[in-house]
Amino acid sequence: MSRPFPDDPFLRGNYAPWPMEGEIHDLVVEGEIPRELNGTLYRNGPNPQFTPRGRYHWFDGDGMIHAFTLSDGHAHYRNRWVRTQRLAMEREAGEALFGGLSDMTATDPRAMGIFPNAANTNIIIHAGKLLALWEAGPPHTLDPHTLETLGPYDFAGALVSPMTAHPKMDPETGELLFFGYSPFPPYLRYYVASAQGEVVRSEEIDVPVPTMIHDFMTTRDHVIFMVCPATFRPENLMTGSPVRWEPDLGTKIGVMPRNGGSRDVVWFETDPCFVFHPMNAYTENRRVIADVCRFERVPLFDGVGADGFERGPLPILTRWTLDLAGGTVKEEQLDDCSSEFPRLDERYTGLRYRHGYAGGRTGSPSDGGSFNAVFHYDHQTGRRRMHDLGATSFTSEPVFVPRASHAPEGAGFLLTVVYRQEENRSDLLILDADNVEGKPLATVKLPHRVPYGFHGNWGQGIV
Ligand SMILES: [Fe+2]
Repeated sequence: MSRPFPDDPFLRGNYAPWPMEGEIHDLVVEGEIPRELNGTLYRNGPNPQFTPRGRYHWFDGDGMIHAFTLSDGHAHYRNRWVRTQRLAMEREAGEALFGGLSDMTATDPRAMGIFPNAANTNIIIHAGKLLALWEAGPPHTLDPHTLETLGPYDFAGALVSPMTAHPKMDPETGELLFFGYSPFPPYLRYYVASAQGEVVRSEEIDVPVPTMIHDFMTTRDHVIFMVCPATFRPENLMTGSPVRWEPDLGTKIGVMPRNGGSRDVVWFETDPCFVFHPMNAYTENRRVIADVCRFERVPLFDGVGADGFERGPLPILTRWTLDLAGGTVKEEQLDDCSSEFPRLDERYTGLRYRHGYAGGRTGSPSDGGSFNAVFHYDHQTGRRRMHDLGATSFTSEPVFVPRASHAPEGAGFLLTVVYRQEENRSDLLILDADNVEGKPLATVKLPHRVPYGFHGNWGQGIV
C-alpha cells in the first residue's frame, strides 16, 4: 500500500502531486477561444509518484506533462507522466527508490549506481521532436499527440553531457543552442544543433568552479553564460544540499562570440547574485543588453527556501548592460515588484525586443503561491502592466503565442495556467497580450488542479 505524502511545503497545497493520468474532451470554456489558436500548450513540472525517501526537494518530483489542445474554439486536456527509468523502477518496486537532492544518501541499494532522470523541467519542440528536459541528464522524446514516452534522446550520440532545460531557438536560423553543466570536469559544454536537429558544434567552455547554471542567453552575435556563486561541487552532493552559496566568488558573466570558442569568452564580474531565468538579451553595437530575474542569493538550496519558495528571497527583473569595449557591467533594477518565469515573443529571442511577460507578485497574496499577477513589461515605454489575479489565484509561467506568424511583436495571446486556491483547481487563462489587464479572452476550466510546475511551450498546429 502506498504511504501518504509527508507534510512538506512542496508537497502541500498546489505543490502536492496530482495522482491521475487522463484526458478530458471538450472542456468548459468561459468566453471564446480565439480561432487563431490551433495547437497544443505543453507544460512540465515535478509530480512525485511515490512518497519520497527522506527529505523532498521541489526539483525532485517525476515529470508530468499537462497538454491543452486548442482547436476551432474547443479545448481538450491530457496529462501523463514521462516514463523515465526511475518512474518504471519505482513502479515495479511499489515505492520510491531514489533519494532526492536534499537527501541523496537515502537511495535504496536497489537503485545505487543509477542516475535518476526526473524529466520534469521543460518541454520543447525542435526539428519535429517533442522533448521533455531536465538539466542533469538527457532529454526524453514524447509522442506529441498521446504524450507517450519514446525514450531518452542523445542527438545520435552527440550529446555527451547533461542538457540544460533552457535551450534557445534562434528565430532567424532555426538552430537550437544549448549547454550542459556538470559537477565533474568539463564543467560546461556548449552545443549547437541545426534546424534539422543535428548537433553541428560541441565544445568545452572553461570555468574554474562547477556551479549550477540553470539557463543562459543567446543573441544574434553572442552566447552569454551566467556563472553565479551557487557552487555544485562533487563534495556537496551527499551533504543535504548539492548547491552551496559561496558569495565570495562573485558572479561572472561570460560573453562569447557566436563564432568564437572558450578562449574568446570575455568575463564580466559583478556582485554575487543568482539567476534562474533571463527574459532575453540582445547585442547592440558593442554592448550586450541582458534582462534577468535576479535573486540576491540562490533560493531553494543551502538552507534557504526549504520552507516554501515564496518565503525565500524573491527575484527582481534587472537589466545588465555589458560594455564589451569598456569591460564594464551596469546593473539596473527594472521593477519594484518581484517577478519570475519570464518569457517573451520568442520570434525575438536574442534580438532587440520590446515586450516581456512574467509571473508577478503584487499586494498581499495568501500563502497559497508566489505569483498572483501576470506582468507585461514594455521595455520601450518602461511601463509595466498587469493582470491582477487577486490574493488567492496564482499564475504559472505565461507563454506567448503570436496571433499569426507575421504579426507584429507582442500581437498575440498569453496562455497561463492559474491555480484557484479557494476552489482547489486550475484554469487555463487566455489573455490578449496587448491588453493584459483586460478580462481574459477565454477561461478554460479544468475540474482538477495542475500542480505548480516549471515551464512549457506552444506547439503550433499540433491538434
Ligand atoms: Fe527554469
